[in-house]
Amino acid sequence: MPLLRQLIRPLRRAWTRVNEAWLNIDTVPAMGAWSHARDGQAEAIAGARTDAAQFDDNMRYESPDYWYVRKACRDAWHGRRNAREIAYDLGSGMGRVLCVLALRPWAKVVGVELFADLAASSRQNAAAMRGRRAPIEVITGDALQQDLGDGTVFFLFNPFGAKTLAGVLARIDASLRTNPRHVQFLYYNAEHDQVVADSGLFERWHHFQTRNGVPVSYWRTR
Ligand SMILES: C[S@@+](CC[C@H](N)C(=O)[O-])C[C@H]1O[C@@H](n2cnc3c(N)ncnc32)[C@H](O)[C@@H]1O
Repeated sequence: MPLLRQLIRPLRRAWTRVNEAWLNIDTVPAMGAWSHARDGQAEAIAGARTDAAQFDDNMRYESPDYWYVRKACRDAWHGRRNAREIAYDLGSGMGRVLCVLALRPWAKVVGVELFADLAASSRQNAAAMRGRRAPIEVITGDALQQDLGDGTVFFLFNPFGAKTLAGVLARIDASLRTNPRHVQFLYYNAEHDQVVADSGLFERWHHFQTRNGVPVSYWRTR
């Protein structure tokens, strides 16, 4: 198994490079060179605690494989109900998911990222990307403290712990009372799926595991 992994690793790296060259973006932090990364990036890559997160439960920056990013973005697009839908990536890192989402004509694609350096990288990627068909906006800050009331799709790659997740779900719930709408919630590396279930907001209509056993779950308003 470790041998197989060693063989697959360079292929995976090449696959990432091909996707990034095609999109004209760079979402791979300089690994092994954290000391050279700017402060915010180095902290985000290490998953350092920060006062900027109300519950101090932020996860480290890493990005899902393009195969699964493309699949999730395609599925979200097929699950939409109208042409005015706005897709969010909560914990948008360097913008990989944002850029793949923006290959389709959403009304808008919005990223929320805690660390200013990562948010700046994602803005650069958004400006440089090839094939963009939706405007991309990136907000620097805690997802828990944002107005999410216009979002119809929420993509999360396990960005934070149960407390922030519960708070975000409560915000979406409150927004549904003032702006009733169909919402999709895509949770990659769904470590706190039970929190989503307990919110009573969504039904889980699909789930699968990646080749590496990472759980991915798809939720939507009933
Ligand atoms: C696993 S990465 C997600 C990668 C990203 N979705 C992509 O397209 O590559 C998690 C990200 O969530 C960010 N994050 C963690 N807690 C957050 C919070 N409370 N609000 C906003 N972003 C947060 C981290 O800084 C990190 O960049």
